[in-house]
Amino acid sequence: MLRHRWLGWVVGMCLGASALAQTGTPAPVIDIASWWVSPGEQASLDVIRRHAQAQGLQWRQRVVAGSGTSRFGDVLQRWVAQGQAPMASQVIGYDIHAWAQQGQLALLDDVARAQEWDAVVPLGIQHLSKYQGHWVAAPINAHSTNWLWVNAALFRQLGAAAPDTWDDLVRLLAQARAAGMVPLAIGPDAWEHTLLFESVAAGAGGAEFYRRAFLELEPEALQGNDVLAEVFRRMRVLRSYAVRLPGTRTWDAATDQVRQGQALLQVQGSWVDGEFAAHRLQPGRDYECLRFPDTQGMFLFNADQYMFFQEALHGVAGEQVRQTFARVLMDLEMQTELNIATGAIPARVDVSRERFNRCGQQAVSDMRRANLQRTLMGSIAMGNANPPEVKNAMYAVISAHFLGRISDAQAVQRLTAVIAAARPRQAVAAGR
Ligand code: GAL
Repeated sequence: MLRHRWLGWVVGMCLGASALAQTGTPAPVIDIASWWVSPGEQASLDVIRRHAQAQGLQWRQRVVAGSGTSRFGDVLQRWVAQGQAPMASQVIGYDIHAWAQQGQLALLDDVARAQEWDAVVPLGIQHLSKYQGHWVAAPINAHSTNWLWVNAALFRQLGAAAPDTWDDLVRLLAQARAAGMVPLAIGPDAWEHTLLFESVAAGAGGAEFYRRAFLELEPEALQGNDVLAEVFRRMRVLRSYAVRLPGTRTWDAATDQVRQGQALLQVQGSWVDGEFAAHRLQPGRDYECLRFPDTQGMFLFNADQYMFFQEALHGVAGEQVRQTFARVLMDLEMQTELNIATGAIPARVDVSRERFNRCGQQAVSDMRRANLQRTLMGSIAMGNANPPEVKNAMYAVISAHFLGRISDAQAVQRLTAVIAAARPRQAVAAGR
């Protein structure tokens, strides 16, 4: 379903101010791979680079577009197969376990102990950062996906109240269309359709349904109720209000439509907040961030993390470089600056809300509450809910339905089959 779109390879080599060690020997180089290419994402990568350079590390980056879960992953696989693994790579969700299972990843337990990661990282995220009880990835943020990003001027023009329930949302979209606006902007990729689906599913079925069906992959969660049928019915309603971008555009092109007043709203992760910030937009003035109706109290998370390849650095010196960079990634000040740029929040519960914008402040509070109430749940679309093969099978069904290629009934039947087939595989992937 995902088209292959090689948008380029950028290798940047930047020398930090303190890059040359006092001894005159060149400072160690860290070779980083990431999929952050949009303006907000580049600003975010710059924050990490600055903090790494301040620790005397030379920064080299390979940046390949790909929205995280699929295209970038293919390129990374190729590099590793060719013996060109980066020292550290951005990664999300269950992909971490898949890499760990292949025995590719360095353990980060020493740094984790020293910086007390166990005490500060939300449990749902720790579950992904650890494999068989060991820290194998450092989480740098917590995005959430169950947001509506609304153009404030168009919203004011409609004179509507913030939608609290599903029915309110449908009324708002209908009102927008009647006023000649594009109600809902969405990009072409399967992960974007799935991201819409997960908010609809969490809203229609509630947190327990979402957890049992998509995280625990319990086929019983789908039996004896028609929640899934209702979810696909709602997806069909949303499809009727959506204007899909042509296949060559990306999620941030839909964000641009909302930013430029060409569409009322987009359902996307909080990286949209980073895009708006990069264009100097302000929440409350230029846009609104509203929780997707009926998912208030839930935090469907997507945590960007960094994993470290064993083969990339050897010996004591290599281990020290790895530890230095891992410490940078988990540093509270670095994560605060980073996430103000990214639109996410730190992957830590001990963070002050003060310097974040309105959306970030709400996200910090929402995450703390959700962490205690077990409503902090992984995003299906971003691979934080279940292993890559299950996620990909879900993408295929959800996207085919969103594109009108299969009926509601077919979608229910196929997704039920995906979940029924998934469970034993998930247990293996989780190392249980
Ligand atoms: C996700 C990533 C976000 C953002 C988004 C869109 O995979 O976690 O930080 O980059 O893709 O590119």
